[in-house]
Amino acid sequence: MNRFLLAMVVFVGTTVLNAASAEDAMMQMGNHRHDMSVLDTRTSLGVTGPMQQHQLSNMREHVEAIKSIVGLLAEQKFEEASKVAHARLGLTPDMQAMCGMFGNDDFNKLGLAFHRSGDDLGDALQTKDMNASLRALNKTMQYCVECHARFRQ
Ligand code: HEC
Repeated sequence: MNRFLLAMVVFVGTTVLNAASAEDAMMQMGNHRHDMSVLDTRTSLGVTGPMQQHQLSNMREHVEAIKSIVGLLAEQKFEEASKVAHARLGLTPDMQAMCGMFGNDDFNKLGLAFHRSGDDLGDALQTKDMNASLRALNKTMQYCVECHARFRQ
């Protein structure tokens, strides 16, 4: 076999191998996606219609509130951070009504405990104690994590 032919065989061979492994990777990704939906064992709340968007926009406000609190903490603005915690994460009548709307007792309990922790966070921030504030923030965010692991729309 002359050198040119040998080079061609090697080139074509590796190209085919690369294409095959790319295809494998895509198939694996496809299967992975499939597995993820099958493995989603979270409890569905059966949320439908306009309530879906309402709940999600509420949630986006929660994440925004957390972001504000972290920013204000970094500036040692405890008073303002406390107001955000009470007003936007605390157990307001609105939030109380919202948590009870889904006809799921466990979700309701978890939601109410979460909002009470929002008020505790507001109280901790009022003390201007950074460590106590961070501990309270961690506790509140633990509820975000826990609920997202257990429930979906
Ligand atoms: C009592 C339950 C509960 C708590 C507590 C909770 N969430 Fe959620 N959240 C949900 C559910 C249910 C969804 C919809 C998830 C799904 O269907 O996959 C959701 C979705 C979201 C989304 C996605 C919004 C979108 O537009 O897709 C964000 C962001 C979010 N939550 C942020 C938070 C943050 C931040 C906290 C805590 C400060 C929090 N949530 C606390 C139940 C909760």
